[in-house]
Amino acid sequence: MTEIETVEPAIDWDSLTFSLTPARSMYLATCERGGEWEKGSLVPYGNIEFSPAAGVLNYGQGVFEGTKAFKTEKDRIVLFRPEMNAQRMIQSAERLCIPLIPEESFLDAVEKTVRDNADYIPPSDKGSLYVRPIVWGTGPVLGVHEAPSYMFVVFVSPVGPYFQGGIPCLHIKVTKLFHRAAQNGTGAAKAIGNYGASLYPLKLAKDRGFNEVMYLNSNDQEMVEELGAANVFVLKGNKLLTPRLGGTILPGVTRDSTIQIARDILDLDVQETDVSVDDILSADELFCAGTAVVICPIGKVTTDDDYAEISHEMGPVTKELREALMDIQIERREDQFNWLYPIDIL
Ligand SMILES: Cc1ncc(COP(=O)(O)O)c(C=O)c1O
Repeated sequence: MTEIETVEPAIDWDSLTFSLTPARSMYLATCERGGEWEKGSLVPYGNIEFSPAAGVLNYGQGVFEGTKAFKTEKDRIVLFRPEMNAQRMIQSAERLCIPLIPEESFLDAVEKTVRDNADYIPPSDKGSLYVRPIVWGTGPVLGVHEAPSYMFVVFVSPVGPYFQGGIPCLHIKVTKLFHRAAQNGTGAAKAIGNYGASLYPLKLAKDRGFNEVMYLNSNDQEMVEELGAANVFVLKGNKLLTPRLGGTILPGVTRDSTIQIARDILDLDVQETDVSVDDILSADELFCAGTAVVICPIGKVTTDDDYAEISHEMGPVTKELREALMDIQIERREDQFNWLYPIDIL
């Protein structure tokens, strides 16, 4: 194995964006179809060779995760609820016929990668280390079937804010032209193909000046599902509504955390329920939630035949939820839910 360099990274923490800054090393493990995952190891971060007939390249047999490691105000390094990512990856892998990675192996791989790249974690007020566990069918296939072999990789990148120049109030387009997921499809899995399919709707929306696309239920086009990479919440009085999980929506870690914070800290009446386009248009506050965007306000909504201006700035409840979540993540506030997963640097 090539030796991994240990030179201090020269990163300007102030100019970090949500984009890839290659780190020192990545974790790599392999598995044959029907076999067990071999013990993986850290290798220098870099390119990987596959057959052009690899299952993932031809038929999209791949699933991934996204979580973050933080340097906290108590000078510790912590992951945020990585067990949830491990479990979601098991669910996703099952749907895509990929050999399951046991939770302990997933956590061990993530831990090793973060520890080896600890000096790539920005100070707590500048950003975090984005962690991307991903599994591909790498063995060659010609007909449409499961690949004969698989690779599990964990790579990391220091990241800054998702949106440049402060937190914007997003303008979203509610689309009826495209659907992200259908009932019994792969919407609840973090399958790579879901994201390839979302690029064109997003491009059209951005070309027309919108920030993001909001997808509707493909059955009746009446109920809201989510954005391309974040869940949705609607505040109406003391009620916080979010679309119920039911196979077409990704069960977000931030979604679950927001629900618990809203119930236990803000004392809101949280309902996982059907959320209609009218609910969105008449919201007191509207926001999206995801690992990358954290909690981000939605200020304007455009549908095919309607438009609503919700707010020009982040609403007070959205702000309180966002701050509580971020304060827990960087240990500025007590971790009352026991969400943090500390990583010891030896
Ligand atoms: C489609 C979709 N919905 C929601 C989310 C939010 O999930 P999480 O909070 O686990 O990042 C993501 C995250 O990437 C996503 O891709």
